[in-house]
Amino acid sequence: MFTDSDKQKIYSDTMHRIWLLIDDSTDWIAALSTIVSELHSSFDQFHWTGFYRTVRNKHLQVGPYQGEHGCIDIPFSQGVCGAAARLGMTQLIRDVREFEGHIACSPTTLSEIVVPVLDSHDETVAILDIDSNELEAFDDTDRENLEELCRKLGKRFTQMIST
Ligand code: SME
Repeated sequence: MFTDSDKQKIYSDTMHRIWLLIDDSTDWIAALSTIVSELHSSFDQFHWTGFYRTVRNKHLQVGPYQGEHGCIDIPFSQGVCGAAARLGMTQLIRDVREFEGHIACSPTTLSEIVVPVLDSHDETVAILDIDSNELEAFDDTDRENLEELCRKLGKRFTQMIST
């Protein structure tokens, strides 16, 4: 198990690589895929790492992601992902069994964090969902780093989808 400062160092290195890799990208899916790949391969405790994109009428559609197959479509009204999308706020769930309405795409998931990506009108355009087979795998270090990532990504959204 690593310390908080080990975790922060991994995040700092990972974020540095992510922004180097996607800096010139104007393609939304290419950018999301690269982010997922970098995050998923940086942390052993992440067993599912991916985005759901807002596609129509308050629904989320899976992808890009890494891990076993995820639920294809999640309405804003359901699950941890739906709550993050609907409220525009991070959901840090230390024990998914305590979240009423948690959608168990994988029966082994014990904790998860879901961070919304908001556009310039504060509309949720995507959510980043990371699941772990470990209990309490996520803490404020994860929240702060992933929120900063999603904030920067939200700012790039308009540029990326318009090309
Ligand atoms: N657990 C999520 C569903 C997505 S999958 O875990 C990949 C939820 O409750 O919204």
